[in-house]
Amino acid sequence: MEKKVLAITRGDGVGPEVVEEGVKILRTINEYSDLNFVFKEAPAGGKIWKEMGNSLPEKSFNIIKESDALLFGAVGLPGLPQGVAESAILRIRQGLDLYVNIRPIKLYDPLKDNCPLKEEYIGKGIDFTIVRENTEGLYVDVGGIMKNEVAINNMIYTRKGCERIIEFAFQFAKKYNHKKITSVDKANLLKPSQLWREIFEEIGKNYPNIQKENLYIDAFCQWLIRTPYAYETVVTGNLFGDIISDEAAFLIGSMGMVSSGNIHPGKVSMYEPIHGSAPDIAGKKIANPIGTILSVKLMLEESFKQEKIAHDIELSVEEALNEGRTTDIEDEKLDTLTTDQMGDLINEKLKNHLKN
Ligand code: NAD
Ligand code: IPM
Ligand code: MN
Repeated sequence: MEKKVLAITRGDGVGPEVVEEGVKILRTINEYSDLNFVFKEAPAGGKIWKEMGNSLPEKSFNIIKESDALLFGAVGLPGLPQGVAESAILRIRQGLDLYVNIRPIKLYDPLKDNCPLKEEYIGKGIDFTIVRENTEGLYVDVGGIMKNEVAINNMIYTRKGCERIIEFAFQFAKKYNHKKITSVDKANLLKPSQLWREIFEEIGKNYPNIQKENLYIDAFCQWLIRTPYAYETVVTGNLFGDIISDEAAFLIGSMGMVSSGNIHPGKVSMYEPIHGSAPDIAGKKIANPIGTILSVKLMLEESFKQEKIAHDIELSVEEALNEGRTTDIEDEKLDTLTTDQMGDLINEKLKNHLKN
């Protein structure tokens, strides 16, 4: 296959620790398949902000824009002014118009005992995808602080912004044969949610075979704990999607387990675990790399249409979970592994699959 350029942003805190494990997977794919990835470092985040006063230097953004996809760690350092490191991620999402953020939430069989819910709540299992709107809502940079007295952010949704994410979500549900799509909003209060819900109804008419459900965000947060097995595709706005992702992550074992794809179909997209730089565990080599490795899986699937390799990566993760664990998903019957040991174990499994 022709050469594909991957931009690599290692970021801050546990970012570099987990990204290295994602890169290892990509190197294995280079070695055992006819794919040919080359890597270009694109530093961003708090560390580079301290050096250059910019958390997304132009040089890095140019490398990202000219790449075929981006693997991103996490950004954020304690002690910096709020938001300076994190602005890098928002500038990438807005700058590349990555309007879709998919976040698969799947309770893998070996992790059933790590789910904090009683068996009756787990039901037939947890396996759904959050489709989060990724460029609008409260994340638009319209607002400010006046004289340290008044602070304003504006929740802005456009018809185009709602239409394209809701259409994507219905197509996604259709592709995976989902019977139901759940839209989460706050239409009983917020104007943008009222527009969103109207558009959801309109677009939904084109998908008569998919059952539609509307839930308010506050109630959804309890349904997520009470009936997590009941969801397949969950489409929601930017901030709600951010918050429910972390709640859902703990249901499937850990923040370290969840991957994401920040996508503009057909264009340069960014793949990253949903967690942050985790300053409380940074430098200890105990961070769970699986969210990052599954982000590589998403990249292979969404940006490079390599379904077989993507499937092999997921299989390798499941197999590895039967043998060893990082501390966040610990099991006293299994070996406790460091970040790189977990990565190595998954790599060994993947090599076996790719050889066959
Ligand atoms: P966090 O996600 O970094 O950590 C929350 C909790 O989850 C912590 O206890 C942490 O140890 C645990 N955790 C996170 N990743 C883990 C992993 N891979 N393995 C095991 N445990 C893991 O959230 P936070 O502490 O609120 O934020 C820290 C910094 O990260 C902040 O600056 C925040 O703005 C930033 N942040 C960045 C991103 C990003 O760049 N994508 C995402 C979220 C938060
Ligand atoms: C995420 C993060 C970001 C968000 C932060 C770092 C701006 O929490 O990707 O989930 O809120 O989108
Ligand atoms: Mn988040």
